[in-house]
Amino acid sequence: MEKVYAAFRSIGAYVPQKILTNADFEKMVDTSDEWIVKRTGIKKRHIAADDESTSDMAAKAAKIAIERAGLSVEDIDLVVMATVTPDYFNMPSTACLVSDKLGIKNVQAFDLSAACSGFVYALTVAKAFIESGMKKNVLVIGAEKFSSIVDYTDRTTSILFGDGAGAAVISATTNRDEAFVDIHASADGSYWDFLITPSPGSVNPASHTAIDEGLQFVKMKGNETFKLAVKTLTKDVKEILKNNNIEAGEIPHFVPHQANYRIIKAVGDSLGMREDQVVLTVHKYGNTSAASIPMAINDIYEEGRLQSGELMLLDTFGGGLTWASALIPFAPNK
Ligand code: UT7
Repeated sequence: MEKVYAAFRSIGAYVPQKILTNADFEKMVDTSDEWIVKRTGIKKRHIAADDESTSDMAAKAAKIAIERAGLSVEDIDLVVMATVTPDYFNMPSTACLVSDKLGIKNVQAFDLSAACSGFVYALTVAKAFIESGMKKNVLVIGAEKFSSIVDYTDRTTSILFGDGAGAAVISATTNRDEAFVDIHASADGSYWDFLITPSPGSVNPASHTAIDEGLQFVKMKGNETFKLAVKTLTKDVKEILKNNNIEAGEIPHFVPHQANYRIIKAVGDSLGMREDQVVLTVHKYGNTSAASIPMAINDIYEEGRLQSGELMLLDTFGGGLTWASALIPFAPNK
């Protein structure tokens, strides 16, 4: 039997309308545009409407990705949804809600929790299902309504995060040139408390006390996470390039997780990347967690910068702690 590979066929994204600028934050907490830009590179972020859920945004991004793949919803045989801001804690899965909104029926659908690394983690799942022959067209989504777990009185976290969704269709191919070159994901659970929403969950079930203590909001050991992110990501991307005998200079599109411009710059510089190789969206979307990488890929696609066959180097780091990187050619249906 001919060997089957996974191919990255299409991308789509959705960005909510409402914008929170740094000037808005100056009115909400003790901060300044200067501090935020200097320490993070963020100038604004998009925020979902009150009646707009993670699955609403995800379904919009996914619809575009399916259309751009030249497929219909009947062709999708697996939905993998990366999010840490699901519509409901903890059931039904947001993947089931997205499937329902799109009219995808009787198809395996589940959520995957790997925080900011979720989209690349979900790509590893898509690859495994396709290469094993179990599935042919996998819808992979990264979507977050991070504003639903942000404490807008906490200046250390609130200025960082935004909402949005991105989706891709990963399909089976027998053409080796279209295949994922490499992908890997990893984790170190000993840093579990670096990024955490303490409640609701089995440790701190929903309670008045939990709410009074603000345990439903995201907490982050920012500076410690920053240092580990730079160290881990630099090592990770160097390894994946070396293992595949690819020079950093050959990569047309380095698409890192968009958490902080300083992290991206440090990793890019350590690889000797030119500015035109590095995809940057953190200034306009902030950190959208699992949505950040597919939203960034969608940006270069819509700007006409992502051409068939061009290699993307994906690289991400997030709560867990988790991290992942991938070398994937863009392989649209011709
Ligand atoms: O997406 C998942 C992975 N996430 C990340 O990788 C995020 C990693 N962390 C970061 O991006 C950065 O650590 C932050 C942007 C969160 C913070 O930057 P930092 O350079 O690490 O600052 P810091 O936490 O060391 O804080 C420096 C100072 C503190 O004041 P003192 O103690 O020196 O007086 C903070 O209270 O900056 C203060 N500060 C602020 N000041 C104005 C913290 N947040 C703000 C703010 N405005 N919004």
